[in-house]
Amino acid sequence: MEVVRNITQDTVWVGGGDVRLALFENMFPLENGVSYNSFLISDEKTALVDTVDESVGRRFIENIKASLNGRSLDYLIINHMEPDHCANIEEICRLFPKVQIVGNKKTFQMIQQFYDMDISGRTLEVKDGDSLSLGTHTLRFIFAPMVHWPEVMFTYDDYDKILFSADAFGTFGGYTGNLFSDEVDYEEVYFNEARRYYTNIVGKYGVQVQAALKKMSAMDIRMICPLHGPILRGDGMQRILDKYALWSSYQPEERGVLLTYASMYGNTENAVQLLANLLAQNGVKNIRVYDVSKTHFSTIVADAFRFSHLVFASPTYNLRLYSAMENVIGDLAALNFQNREVSVIGNGSWAPAAGKIMVNKLSEMKDMRFIGEALEIKSALKKDQYPEMENLAKAISASVLCADENRV
Ligand code: FEO
Repeated sequence: MEVVRNITQDTVWVGGGDVRLALFENMFPLENGVSYNSFLISDEKTALVDTVDESVGRRFIENIKASLNGRSLDYLIINHMEPDHCANIEEICRLFPKVQIVGNKKTFQMIQQFYDMDISGRTLEVKDGDSLSLGTHTLRFIFAPMVHWPEVMFTYDDYDKILFSADAFGTFGGYTGNLFSDEVDYEEVYFNEARRYYTNIVGKYGVQVQAALKKMSAMDIRMICPLHGPILRGDGMQRILDKYALWSSYQPEERGVLLTYASMYGNTENAVQLLANLLAQNGVKNIRVYDVSKTHFSTIVADAFRFSHLVFASPTYNLRLYSAMENVIGDLAALNFQNREVSVIGNGSWAPAAGKIMVNKLSEMKDMRFIGEALEIKSALKKDQYPEMENLAKAISASVLCADENRV
């Protein structure tokens, strides 16, 4: 049976959720699945805003049929062509042969790339800023290229003041029944996952997200409907907008230290634990310690965006970095990560290289500032290196605790 809900008088949520999915994009672990949002606007004309992943396609079609209540579908608006949202285009076109597909030039190119369907004569190509009247509701299309993919656009309903925002402002986490951010403790249930979602999925495109935020700042928005997760409104909406402003400009959210290490036999781990211990004794409160072999890189990436100071520690492996550490630092570089205070601890038993490699890789990222001397361990930390460790801890603590109001 259909599971639908009116979000305004004329607009119905017709999406679904998949709690069985273990890995988003076959890569990112999901504790509690993910939801796929889609919305049906019924006016003089009817319009469906995006579709869903094929895993929830059957329910989705049931939801649409029930919500249309015998009417036909006039428009299918495609804000984003990634398959977690567009898997049902062919089925929608089969069920509603007269439906017009609304998208931009890149949207239609991608439809042809992904699917073997003839869309000639059934497309309505829009340009940035174009409008489409449904009767009472007028929809405006706002291009947001690379807020996740190049074809992405937002759709703004100027009657209800709703922004349908594609992937932007979404989160991991399945459908819970509480469809709105103010119906649930968003902070507890979703916020960390919203950060992990943004930083890993869209994090690379900070410049483009800033451009989209600028366009949005001139609009009267009462509700944001992302493609994943709760619909945002009220204080919760503003809080996420504020966080997006920080994340997309690569500003940390809070002062604190994220220590990420690789360790084969516990010796590099021991050095990191000693450093964390000294930091805490120096008064640093916000400390996270992650083992790259234990904690998924997406969680480390999310906390790297969160905290002001990062420490990386790794043994040398085949004259390179331990591969999981190479992956984490490489991923941060690929995400265009920048603007942090960083410190490094390298370990090596006969040809130490890890410390130097990490310094080089971090130096290639924009606005990375090194705090303290890079510490080199030979196999295991020895008592005669304690003063060096103390100095490193002092330098990091002083930097974290400094009262520079120009920095977070
Ligand atoms: Fe949720 Fe970029 O797709």
